[in-house]
Amino acid sequence: MERFTQMSTPHPKDYIGKKDFAEPLKLTDNQIFFEGVSIQNLAETLGTRIYVLSLDQLKRNAQRLQEAFKNYPSFKPCYALAANHLPQVAQTLVDQKFGIEVVNIYELRYTLTQLKNVPYIICNGASKSWSSKRQDKNLIQTVISLQKERNITLNFNSIEEIKYTKNLCQKQNTELEAGISLNLTHHIQNYEKPSGAARFGIPPEQLPQVIKLLKNSKIKITTLQSHIGTQITQLQKLVQNAQLLSQYATQITKELGTAIENLNLGGGIAVNYYKAENHPLNPNYTIEEYAQKTTQQIIKIHQESNANPFTIIIETGRWLTANTMILLIKATEISQPPQQYPWIVTDGSALTDTNDAVWIAQHFEIINATKPTQKPTQYYNIAGITCDTNDTFAWSKNNTGPRKLPKTQPGDILIVLDVGAYQLALRNNFNLLPKAPIYTPEGKPINEPNMEISSF
Ligand SMILES: Cc1ncc(COP(=O)(O)O)c(C=O)c1O
Repeated sequence: MERFTQMSTPHPKDYIGKKDFAEPLKLTDNQIFFEGVSIQNLAETLGTRIYVLSLDQLKRNAQRLQEAFKNYPSFKPCYALAANHLPQVAQTLVDQKFGIEVVNIYELRYTLTQLKNVPYIICNGASKSWSSKRQDKNLIQTVISLQKERNITLNFNSIEEIKYTKNLCQKQNTELEAGISLNLTHHIQNYEKPSGAARFGIPPEQLPQVIKLLKNSKIKITTLQSHIGTQITQLQKLVQNAQLLSQYATQITKELGTAIENLNLGGGIAVNYYKAENHPLNPNYTIEEYAQKTTQQIIKIHQESNANPFTIIIETGRWLTANTMILLIKATEISQPPQQYPWIVTDGSALTDTNDAVWIAQHFEIINATKPTQKPTQYYNIAGITCDTNDTFAWSKNNTGPRKLPKTQPGDILIVLDVGAYQLALRNNFNLLPKAPIYTPEGKPINEPNMEISSF
Protein backbone atom coordinates (compact mmCIF):
# COMPACT_ATOMS: atom_id res chain seq x y z
CA MET A 1 0.00 0.00 0.00
CA GLU A 2 1.24 3.47 -0.80
CA ARG A 3 1.91 5.60 2.23
CA PHE A 4 0.51 9.09 2.73
CA THR A 5 3.59 10.78 1.30
CA GLN A 6 3.26 9.02 -2.02
CA MET A 7 -0.50 9.37 -2.15
CA SER A 8 -0.34 13.08 -2.71
CA THR A 9 2.54 15.11 -4.00
CA PRO A 10 1.26 18.60 -4.59
CA HIS A 11 3.01 20.92 -7.02
CA PRO A 12 4.55 23.89 -5.16
CA LYS A 13 2.41 26.27 -7.24
CA ASP A 14 -0.68 24.69 -5.60
CA TYR A 15 0.29 25.69 -2.07
CA ILE A 16 2.94 28.44 -2.20
CA GLY A 17 1.53 31.67 -0.73
CA LYS A 18 -1.48 29.91 0.80
CA LYS A 19 -2.39 30.59 4.42
CA ASP A 20 -1.71 27.54 6.62
CA PHE A 21 0.53 26.02 3.92
CA ALA A 22 3.40 28.25 2.78
CA GLU A 23 2.26 31.78 3.52
CA PRO A 24 5.61 33.63 3.49
CA LEU A 25 6.59 32.19 0.08
CA LYS A 26 5.66 33.49 -3.34
CA LEU A 27 6.17 31.98 -6.80
CA THR A 28 6.70 34.29 -9.75
CA ASP A 29 8.65 34.13 -13.01
CA ASN A 30 10.14 30.76 -12.28
CA GLN A 31 11.57 31.99 -8.97
CA ILE A 32 10.54 31.51 -5.37
CA PHE A 33 10.56 34.46 -2.98
CA PHE A 34 10.58 34.45 0.82
CA GLU A 35 9.04 37.65 2.16
CA GLY A 36 9.74 39.24 -1.20
CA VAL A 37 13.39 38.15 -1.40
CA SER A 38 14.51 35.72 -4.07
CA ILE A 39 15.66 32.37 -2.66
CA GLN A 40 18.19 32.08 -5.46
CA ASN A 41 19.69 35.46 -4.49
CA LEU A 42 19.75 34.54 -0.81
CA ALA A 43 21.61 31.31 -1.60
CA GLU A 44 24.05 33.12 -3.89
CA THR A 45 24.86 35.91 -1.46
CA LEU A 46 24.72 34.10 1.90
CA GLY A 47 25.54 30.55 0.83
CA THR A 48 23.55 27.43 1.67
CA ARG A 49 22.87 25.55 4.88
CA ILE A 50 21.30 28.67 6.31
CA TYR A 51 18.06 29.33 8.14
CA VAL A 52 15.99 32.35 7.15
CA LEU A 53 13.55 33.77 9.69
CA SER A 54 10.52 35.92 8.94
CA LEU A 55 9.46 38.07 11.88
CA ASP A 56 6.71 39.43 9.60
CA GLN A 57 5.19 35.95 9.37
CA LEU A 58 5.48 35.65 13.15
CA LYS A 59 3.54 38.90 13.57
CA ARG A 60 0.90 37.72 11.10
CA ASN A 61 0.53 34.50 13.09
CA ALA A 62 0.30 36.38 16.39
CA GLN A 63 -2.34 38.76 15.06
CA ARG A 64 -4.35 35.94 13.52
CA LEU A 65 -4.34 33.99 16.78
CA GLN A 66 -5.52 37.02 18.75
CA GLU A 67 -8.15 37.77 16.14
CA ALA A 68 -9.43 34.18 16.41
CA PHE A 69 -10.17 34.72 20.12
CA LYS A 70 -11.39 38.29 19.84
CA ASN A 71 -15.00 37.46 20.68
CA TYR A 72 -14.12 35.81 23.98
CA PRO A 73 -14.23 38.36 26.82
CA SER A 74 -10.96 37.46 28.57
CA PHE A 75 -8.06 35.89 26.69
CA LYS A 76 -4.37 35.71 27.65
CA PRO A 77 -2.12 34.22 24.96
CA CYS A 78 1.25 32.91 26.01
CA TYR A 79 4.28 31.90 23.99
CA ALA A 80 5.92 28.55 24.85
CA LEU A 81 9.56 29.63 24.79
CA ALA A 82 10.76 26.06 24.17
CA ALA A 83 9.52 26.23 20.58
CA ASN A 84 12.05 28.85 19.48
CA HIS A 85 14.19 30.63 22.04
CA LEU A 86 15.60 33.35 19.77
CA PRO A 87 15.11 36.60 21.70
CA GLN A 88 14.00 38.27 18.46
CA VAL A 89 11.18 35.73 18.19
CA ALA A 90 10.08 35.84 21.84
CA GLN A 91 10.38 39.64 22.03
CA THR A 92 8.28 40.08 18.88
CA LEU A 93 5.52 38.07 20.55
CA VAL A 94 5.92 39.92 23.85
CA ASP A 95 5.57 43.17 21.89
CA GLN A 96 2.30 41.73 20.54
CA LYS A 97 1.18 41.30 24.17
CA PHE A 98 1.95 37.62 24.58
CA GLY A 99 3.06 36.31 27.95
CA ILE A 100 5.88 33.77 28.16
CA GLU A 101 5.57 30.15 29.27
CA VAL A 102 8.71 28.52 30.66
CA VAL A 103 9.37 24.94 31.73
CA ASN A 104 12.36 25.32 34.02
CA ILE A 105 14.59 27.76 35.91
CA TYR A 106 16.86 28.24 32.87
CA GLU A 107 14.03 29.36 30.61
CA LEU A 108 12.83 31.61 33.43
CA ARG A 109 16.27 33.21 33.82
CA TYR A 110 16.44 33.68 30.06
CA THR A 111 13.04 35.36 30.06
CA LEU A 112 14.04 37.66 32.91
CA THR A 113 17.39 38.63 31.41
CA GLN A 114 16.81 38.62 27.64
CA LEU A 115 13.25 39.93 27.24
CA LYS A 116 11.73 43.28 28.08
CA ASN A 117 8.24 44.19 29.33
CA VAL A 118 6.94 40.63 29.47
CA PRO A 119 3.29 41.07 30.54
CA TYR A 120 3.13 37.78 32.45
CA ILE A 121 5.19 34.65 32.96
CA ILE A 122 3.81 31.16 33.50
CA CYS A 123 6.11 28.52 34.96
CA ASN A 124 5.38 24.90 34.11
CA GLY A 125 7.46 21.78 33.94
CA ALA A 126 8.57 18.95 36.17
CA SER A 127 11.01 19.06 39.07
CA LYS A 128 10.50 22.73 39.87
CA SER A 129 11.77 22.25 43.42
CA TRP A 130 15.06 20.90 42.12
CA SER A 131 18.15 23.03 42.34
CA SER A 132 21.72 22.41 41.27
CA LYS A 133 24.86 23.66 42.93
CA ARG A 134 25.17 26.35 40.27
CA GLN A 135 21.83 27.84 41.22
CA ASP A 136 21.03 29.74 44.34
CA LYS A 137 17.25 29.45 44.00
CA ASN A 138 15.06 26.79 42.44
CA LEU A 139 12.10 27.74 40.27
CA ILE A 140 9.51 27.70 43.07
CA GLN A 141 11.67 29.86 45.35
CA THR A 142 12.27 32.25 42.45
CA VAL A 143 8.56 32.62 41.70
CA ILE A 144 7.79 33.25 45.37
CA SER A 145 10.51 35.91 45.58
CA LEU A 146 9.35 37.65 42.39
CA GLN A 147 5.59 37.44 42.76
CA LYS A 148 5.19 40.89 44.29
CA GLU A 149 7.18 42.74 41.63
CA ARG A 150 6.35 40.67 38.52
CA ASN A 151 3.23 39.13 37.04
CA ILE A 152 4.53 35.60 37.47
CA THR A 153 2.87 32.35 38.43
CA LEU A 154 3.47 28.62 38.44
CA ASN A 155 1.41 25.50 37.86
CA PHE A 156 1.98 22.54 40.16
CA ASN A 157 3.05 19.42 38.31
CA SER A 158 2.85 16.95 41.22
CA ILE A 159 1.70 16.36 44.77
CA GLU A 160 5.36 16.55 45.83
CA GLU A 161 5.61 20.09 44.47
CA ILE A 162 2.50 21.12 46.37
CA LYS A 163 3.85 19.68 49.62
CA TYR A 164 7.22 21.36 49.09
CA THR A 165 5.64 24.75 48.29
CA LYS A 166 3.16 24.53 51.13
CA ASN A 167 6.03 24.05 53.58
CA LEU A 168 8.03 26.85 52.00
CA CYS A 169 5.13 29.32 52.20
CA GLN A 170 4.54 28.28 55.80
CA LYS A 171 8.22 28.79 56.70
CA GLN A 172 8.45 32.14 54.92
CA ASN A 173 5.00 33.18 56.08
CA THR A 174 4.14 34.05 52.46
CA GLU A 175 1.03 33.58 50.40
CA LEU A 176 1.21 32.29 46.83
CA GLU A 177 -1.27 32.33 43.96
CA ALA A 178 -0.72 29.32 41.75
CA GLY A 179 -2.28 26.80 39.40
CA ILE A 180 -2.62 23.05 39.06
CA SER A 181 -1.45 21.22 35.95
CA LEU A 182 -3.93 18.44 35.43
CA ASN A 183 -3.12 15.34 33.49
CA LEU A 184 -6.17 14.64 31.39
CA THR A 185 -4.57 12.44 28.73
CA HIS A 186 -6.24 9.28 30.08
CA HIS A 187 -9.62 10.96 29.91
CA ILE A 188 -9.39 12.15 26.32
CA GLN A 189 -11.13 9.84 23.85
CA ASN A 190 -8.90 8.08 21.32
CA TYR A 191 -5.77 9.45 22.99
CA GLU A 192 -2.73 7.34 22.24
CA LYS A 193 -2.22 4.99 25.22
CA PRO A 194 0.11 4.49 26.90
CA SER A 195 1.13 8.06 26.28
CA GLY A 196 4.43 9.75 27.11
CA ALA A 197 2.42 12.83 28.08
CA ALA A 198 0.81 10.82 30.89
CA ARG A 199 3.72 11.61 33.21
CA PHE A 200 3.08 15.38 33.13
CA GLY A 201 0.64 16.88 35.56
CA ILE A 202 -1.56 15.61 38.35
CA PRO A 203 -4.14 12.96 37.44
CA PRO A 204 -7.69 14.03 38.39
CA GLU A 205 -7.91 10.88 40.52
CA GLN A 206 -5.48 12.59 42.94
CA LEU A 207 -7.60 15.73 43.29
CA PRO A 208 -9.13 14.76 46.65
CA GLN A 209 -5.59 14.53 48.09
CA VAL A 210 -4.65 17.86 46.45
CA ILE A 211 -7.70 19.60 47.86
CA LYS A 212 -6.98 18.26 51.34
CA LEU A 213 -3.41 19.58 51.12
CA LEU A 214 -4.42 23.00 49.83
CA LYS A 215 -7.41 23.72 52.05
CA ASN A 216 -6.52 26.29 54.69
CA SER A 217 -3.01 26.67 53.30
CA LYS A 218 -1.21 29.81 52.18
CA ILE A 219 -1.57 28.71 48.56
CA LYS A 220 -4.51 30.04 46.58
CA ILE A 221 -5.32 28.09 43.44
CA THR A 222 -6.62 30.37 40.69
CA THR A 223 -5.63 28.45 37.53
CA LEU A 224 -6.25 25.01 36.11
CA GLN A 225 -3.95 23.99 33.28
CA SER A 226 -3.78 20.98 30.97
CA HIS A 227 -1.35 20.44 28.10
CA ILE A 228 -2.19 17.17 26.31
CA GLY A 229 0.77 17.15 23.93
CA THR A 230 2.09 18.88 20.84
CA GLN A 231 0.94 18.73 17.18
CA ILE A 232 -2.51 17.46 18.19
CA THR A 233 -4.16 16.99 14.80
CA GLN A 234 -7.67 16.04 16.00
CA LEU A 235 -9.68 19.07 17.10
CA GLN A 236 -12.01 16.88 19.17
CA LYS A 237 -9.16 16.08 21.59
CA LEU A 238 -8.41 19.74 22.20
CA VAL A 239 -12.09 20.53 22.64
CA GLN A 240 -12.49 17.66 25.09
CA ASN A 241 -9.47 18.99 26.99
CA ALA A 242 -11.21 22.38 27.29
CA GLN A 243 -14.44 20.70 28.36
CA LEU A 244 -12.84 18.55 31.06
CA LEU A 245 -10.77 21.46 32.30
CA SER A 246 -13.87 23.64 32.74
CA GLN A 247 -15.73 20.84 34.49
CA TYR A 248 -12.87 20.23 36.91
CA ALA A 249 -12.51 23.98 37.47
CA THR A 250 -16.15 24.17 38.50
CA GLN A 251 -15.72 21.18 40.82
CA ILE A 252 -12.48 22.48 42.41
CA THR A 253 -13.98 25.93 42.91
CA LYS A 254 -16.78 24.33 44.94
CA GLU A 255 -14.48 22.09 46.94
CA LEU A 256 -11.78 24.66 47.72
CA GLY A 257 -14.20 27.50 48.28
CA THR A 258 -12.07 29.87 46.17
CA ALA A 259 -12.65 30.54 42.49
CA ILE A 260 -10.61 29.10 39.65
CA GLU A 261 -10.33 32.17 37.46
CA ASN A 262 -8.10 30.97 34.64
CA LEU A 263 -8.34 27.97 32.35
CA ASN A 264 -5.02 27.27 30.70
CA LEU A 265 -5.57 25.00 27.69
CA GLY A 266 -1.85 24.31 27.17
CA GLY A 267 -0.35 24.10 23.68
CA GLY A 268 -0.84 21.46 21.01
CA ILE A 269 -2.30 23.50 18.14
CA ALA A 270 -1.03 21.68 15.06
CA VAL A 271 0.37 22.86 11.72
CA ASN A 272 0.09 21.56 8.16
CA TYR A 273 3.48 19.98 7.61
CA TYR A 274 2.00 18.17 4.59
CA LYS A 275 1.07 20.51 1.77
CA ALA A 276 -1.92 18.64 0.36
CA GLU A 277 -5.39 19.88 1.36
CA ASN A 278 -7.14 17.42 3.69
CA HIS A 279 -4.03 15.32 4.22
CA PRO A 280 -4.88 12.71 6.88
CA LEU A 281 -1.77 13.58 8.91
CA ASN A 282 -2.51 17.31 8.95
CA PRO A 283 -4.72 18.96 11.58
CA ASN A 284 -8.44 18.73 10.85
CA TYR A 285 -8.99 22.35 11.92
CA THR A 286 -7.78 25.92 11.53
CA ILE A 287 -6.81 28.27 14.35
CA GLU A 288 -10.19 29.98 13.95
CA GLU A 289 -12.01 26.66 14.38
CA TYR A 290 -9.86 25.83 17.40
CA ALA A 291 -10.74 29.16 19.03
CA GLN A 292 -14.41 28.88 18.17
CA LYS A 293 -14.91 25.29 19.36
CA THR A 294 -12.88 25.53 22.57
CA THR A 295 -14.47 28.82 23.66
CA GLN A 296 -17.94 27.48 22.78
CA GLN A 297 -17.34 24.49 25.04
CA ILE A 298 -16.05 26.66 27.89
CA ILE A 299 -18.95 29.12 27.58
CA LYS A 300 -21.43 26.24 27.63
CA ILE A 301 -20.08 24.79 30.87
CA HIS A 302 -19.70 28.22 32.41
CA GLN A 303 -23.37 28.99 31.68
CA GLU A 304 -24.41 25.76 33.40
CA SER A 305 -22.40 26.70 36.50
CA ASN A 306 -23.46 30.32 36.88
CA ALA A 307 -19.95 31.46 37.83
CA ASN A 308 -17.82 34.33 36.50
CA PRO A 309 -16.45 33.65 33.02
CA PHE A 310 -13.02 32.06 33.01
CA THR A 311 -10.02 33.82 31.56
CA ILE A 312 -8.66 31.56 28.83
CA ILE A 313 -4.90 31.13 28.64
CA ILE A 314 -3.14 29.22 25.89
CA GLU A 315 0.56 28.32 25.71
CA THR A 316 1.31 28.03 22.03
CA GLY A 317 4.71 27.35 20.54
CA ARG A 318 4.60 25.29 17.36
CA TRP A 319 1.68 27.03 15.64
CA LEU A 320 3.21 30.48 16.13
CA THR A 321 6.71 29.63 14.95
CA ALA A 322 6.78 26.63 12.58
CA ASN A 323 6.16 28.52 9.33
CA THR A 324 8.39 31.48 10.24
CA MET A 325 11.64 29.75 9.26
CA ILE A 326 12.99 27.94 6.24
CA LEU A 327 16.27 26.10 5.76
CA LEU A 328 18.15 26.52 2.48
CA ILE A 329 20.40 23.64 1.48
CA LYS A 330 22.09 22.58 -1.74
CA ALA A 331 22.02 19.24 -3.56
CA THR A 332 25.66 18.23 -3.79
CA GLU A 333 25.55 14.68 -5.15
CA ILE A 334 23.00 12.30 -6.63
CA SER A 335 23.55 8.67 -5.75
CA GLN A 336 21.65 5.84 -7.44
CA PRO A 337 21.94 2.60 -5.48
CA PRO A 338 20.42 -0.50 -7.13
CA GLN A 339 16.75 -1.15 -6.30
CA GLN A 340 16.34 2.04 -4.28
CA TYR A 341 15.09 5.51 -4.93
CA PRO A 342 17.96 7.76 -5.91
CA TRP A 343 19.50 9.72 -3.04
CA ILE A 344 19.94 13.47 -3.16
CA VAL A 345 22.90 14.18 -0.89
CA THR A 346 22.96 17.75 0.43
CA ASP A 347 25.22 20.15 2.28
CA GLY A 348 22.72 20.31 5.18
CA SER A 349 22.27 17.86 8.02
CA ALA A 350 18.84 16.63 9.07
CA LEU A 351 20.46 15.26 12.20
CA THR A 352 21.27 18.76 13.37
CA ASP A 353 19.35 21.28 11.19
CA THR A 354 15.93 19.53 11.29
CA ASN A 355 16.54 17.08 14.06
CA ASP A 356 12.87 16.03 14.34
CA ALA A 357 13.06 14.59 10.80
CA VAL A 358 15.38 11.96 12.28
CA TRP A 359 14.25 11.85 15.90
CA ILE A 360 10.48 11.49 15.36
CA ALA A 361 10.29 11.04 11.55
CA GLN A 362 8.77 14.51 11.21
CA HIS A 363 7.83 15.34 7.62
CA PHE A 364 9.17 18.74 6.52
CA GLU A 365 8.10 19.75 3.00
CA ILE A 366 11.00 20.20 0.56
CA ILE A 367 10.93 22.25 -2.64
CA ASN A 368 13.49 22.38 -5.43
CA ALA A 369 13.87 26.19 -5.60
CA THR A 370 16.00 26.00 -8.73
CA LYS A 371 13.12 24.36 -10.65
CA PRO A 372 10.02 25.63 -8.86
CA THR A 373 7.65 25.46 -11.81
CA GLN A 374 8.77 22.07 -13.14
CA LYS A 375 6.48 19.16 -12.43
CA PRO A 376 7.54 16.74 -9.68
CA THR A 377 8.30 13.58 -11.63
CA GLN A 378 10.86 11.60 -9.69
CA TYR A 379 10.92 10.06 -6.23
CA TYR A 380 14.03 10.69 -4.14
CA ASN A 381 15.42 10.00 -0.71
CA ILE A 382 17.16 13.12 0.62
CA ALA A 383 20.21 12.90 2.87
CA GLY A 384 22.40 15.11 4.98
CA ILE A 385 26.14 15.54 4.87
CA THR A 386 27.17 13.63 8.01
CA CYS A 387 28.42 10.07 8.24
CA ASP A 388 25.35 8.79 10.11
CA THR A 389 23.05 6.70 7.87
CA ASN A 390 20.06 8.17 9.71
CA ASP A 391 20.98 11.71 8.65
CA THR A 392 18.05 11.96 6.24
CA PHE A 393 15.57 14.73 5.51
CA ALA A 394 13.36 12.27 3.63
CA TRP A 395 13.65 8.51 3.46
CA SER A 396 11.25 5.89 2.17
CA LYS A 397 11.60 3.86 5.38
CA ASN A 398 9.01 6.09 7.13
CA ASN A 399 6.56 8.96 6.53
CA THR A 400 9.38 11.40 5.76
CA GLY A 401 9.89 10.01 2.26
CA PRO A 402 10.37 9.38 -0.55
CA ARG A 403 9.80 12.82 -2.09
CA LYS A 404 8.60 13.53 -5.59
CA LEU A 405 10.61 16.42 -7.05
CA PRO A 406 11.53 17.65 -10.52
CA LYS A 407 14.64 15.92 -11.83
CA THR A 408 17.21 17.26 -9.38
CA GLN A 409 20.89 17.87 -10.09
CA PRO A 410 23.92 18.80 -8.01
CA GLY A 411 23.86 22.55 -7.43
CA ASP A 412 20.06 22.77 -7.14
CA ILE A 413 18.84 24.73 -4.11
CA LEU A 414 16.35 22.99 -1.85
CA ILE A 415 14.04 24.75 0.60
CA VAL A 416 13.02 22.86 3.73
CA LEU A 417 9.80 24.43 5.02
CA ASP A 418 8.36 24.96 8.50
CA VAL A 419 11.54 24.54 10.53
CA GLY A 420 10.76 27.43 12.92
CA ALA A 421 9.42 25.29 15.77
CA TYR A 422 11.71 23.23 18.00
CA GLN A 423 14.48 22.69 15.43
CA LEU A 424 16.94 25.38 16.55
CA ALA A 425 17.15 24.06 20.09
CA LEU A 426 17.75 20.51 18.86
CA ARG A 427 20.87 21.38 16.85
CA ASN A 428 24.17 19.79 17.77
CA ASN A 429 27.73 19.64 16.50
CA PHE A 430 27.77 16.06 15.24
CA ASN A 431 30.76 15.47 12.94
CA LEU A 432 31.92 18.89 14.24
CA LEU A 433 29.45 20.63 11.96
CA PRO A 434 29.00 24.22 13.04
CA LYS A 435 25.43 25.22 13.75
CA ALA A 436 23.78 26.63 10.62
CA PRO A 437 23.57 30.45 10.76
CA ILE A 438 20.29 32.31 10.89
CA TYR A 439 19.48 35.35 8.72
CA THR A 440 16.63 37.73 8.17
CA PRO A 441 15.23 37.76 4.61
CA GLU A 442 17.23 40.98 4.12
CA GLY A 443 20.41 39.00 4.81
CA LYS A 444 21.14 40.35 8.29
CA PRO A 445 22.62 37.73 10.65
CA ILE A 446 20.58 36.87 13.73
CA ASN A 447 22.90 36.11 16.59
CA GLU A 448 22.00 34.02 19.59
CA PRO A 449 22.72 35.11 23.15
CA ASN A 450 24.96 33.13 25.42
CA MET A 451 22.83 30.35 26.90
CA GLU A 452 24.98 29.95 30.00
CA ILE A 453 23.37 32.70 32.02
CA SER A 454 24.74 32.25 35.50
CA SER A 455 22.69 34.69 37.54
CA PHE A 456 20.25 37.55 37.33
C1 LIG B 1 3.57 22.57 29.21
C2 LIG B 1 3.66 22.93 27.77
N1 LIG B 1 2.91 23.96 27.32
C3 LIG B 1 2.96 24.34 26.02
C4 LIG B 1 3.78 23.68 25.12
C5 LIG B 1 3.78 24.15 23.70
O1 LIG B 1 3.17 23.24 22.87
P1 LIG B 1 2.97 23.55 21.31
O2 LIG B 1 4.31 23.84 20.76
O3 LIG B 1 2.37 22.30 20.79
O4 LIG B 1 2.06 24.72 21.18
C6 LIG B 1 4.57 22.61 25.56
C7 LIG B 1 5.42 21.90 24.60
O5 LIG B 1 5.24 20.75 24.34
C8 LIG B 1 4.51 22.23 26.92
O6 LIG B 1 5.25 21.21 27.38
